[in-house]
Amino acid sequence: MDDKHRGCQATSQASVENRRRVFRLVAGIAAGMTTRIALADDEAQILVGDRLVLHTTEGAPVALRPADVRPNKVVLAFPFDPATRKIRNESRLSKILLVRGDEAKMDEETKKRAAGGVLAFSSVCTHAGCDVNAWMAKTSKLLCYCHSSQFDPYDSGKVADGPAPRPLPWLAIKLEGEELVVAGPLSAPPGAPA
Ligand code: FES
Repeated sequence: MDDKHRGCQATSQASVENRRRVFRLVAGIAAGMTTRIALADDEAQILVGDRLVLHTTEGAPVALRPADVRPNKVVLAFPFDPATRKIRNESRLSKILLVRGDEAKMDEETKKRAAGGVLAFSSVCTHAGCDVNAWMAKTSKLLCYCHSSQFDPYDSGKVADGPAPRPLPWLAIKLEGEELVVAGPLSAPPGAPA
């Protein structure tokens, strides 16, 4: 391997390690720490208490409600701070997928992390990082069009088909009033493996 490629590999590895380190910090904050830490724009920033806003929104964010997540449609969202009413950041790693589930198909664990019938996951495919942005109504699976990985929202985002090597990380959400609110950290670091 020449020096150029060795350098690229080292940079890539450092980036992955940095991403994992920041994920652990964010998870710690979400678990109850009160310290806020300045994070780079290319890292996931999702804190407990955050509201969710449509990912294409411009201007002041309006918190999504369960009624905004229609059956058989995937909604992509970013977390925002309800105090400052600012989106945390617009890193793809912060992007969240919302889908309306059928509560009759949810086990108790799945129900606990749903809000108003809505389930939340990282939107970043664990294969090569495309957006998971489609819902297959007939089989009740989430689909990534890039290489056809499918994920089961009723089984903790488990891979149902395709090349993805690990489940889609889930995000516990809850209702405050009519608003969808982040209730815990992502179940695993978002994105494709190193
Ligand atoms: S990036 Fe999603 S299946 Fe390949």
